[in-house]
Amino acid sequence: MHSRAIVAGNWKMNGSRAAIDEFAPALADAAAGIRCPLAVCVPFVYVSRLAERFADTTVAVGGQDVAAEVEAGAFTGEVSGEMLIDAGATHTVVGHSERREKYGETDAIVVAKTRAAVTAGLVPIVCVGETLEQRENDQVEAVLGRQLGALLDGCSAEELDRIVLAYEPIWAIGTGRTATPEQAQEIHAYLRSQIADRDATLARSLSIVYGGSVKPDNAEAIFAGDDVDGALVGGASLKADSFADIARAMDAVGKTS
Ligand code: 13P
Repeated sequence: MHSRAIVAGNWKMNGSRAAIDEFAPALADAAAGIRCPLAVCVPFVYVSRLAERFADTTVAVGGQDVAAEVEAGAFTGEVSGEMLIDAGATHTVVGHSERREKYGETDAIVVAKTRAAVTAGLVPIVCVGETLEQRENDQVEAVLGRQLGALLDGCSAEELDRIVLAYEPIWAIGTGRTATPEQAQEIHAYLRSQIADRDATLARSLSIVYGGSVKPDNAEAIFAGDDVDGALVGGASLKADSFADIARAMDAVGKTS
């Protein structure tokens, strides 16, 4: 079985050409000593610059969204998977909770974007997660089951084989309030069991990463969970040293040999 390990950064709406030029050489240096596969997902306008900077490294570059449409055409403001590939990306975030909550992305849109990304040849990092209110009302499994179910129903086995699933509890994003390692492992095991109900082979090979206030000082404990295959890192991915330290935590728990 291929390694499920990956640590991906999500810069969100942060960054500049100057920030890219400072970050890239520092992370490239660090990555030379890190076994865990790395990806950095940046605003569309910086994808090609970052891809050029990482050209001779093992660090992958991604976008943070992708058009649901595959063919070029009259879709003002959209960026297709093919364009992302052309700019040097190999990954893209899809269905982040900020897009679901602030830009009205439904499960159906997330499925369409996931499929479009795979069609283009990208690895979509597809996000699922519950709000604090849903957690307090005991709706975690219902919400995640619905979000995951849409993907399992809407994508083919071949498409699902290409994705990375990211569990990002909304209450833990940017709040400094991370899920406990036990909470993360419990939900990752739940997600994997739901997938196994449909396809046991896929469940064994699919990467499920955790996102939500992952920092160098909590990463190793979170990564210790059997079903936690890495992280989708927001704030701590903006600095090469903290991002590299999180990746080293994956190496330290022995999941990347
Ligand atoms: P933070 O790591 O800043 O909490 O962000 C998590 C996230 O949303 C990554 O996609």
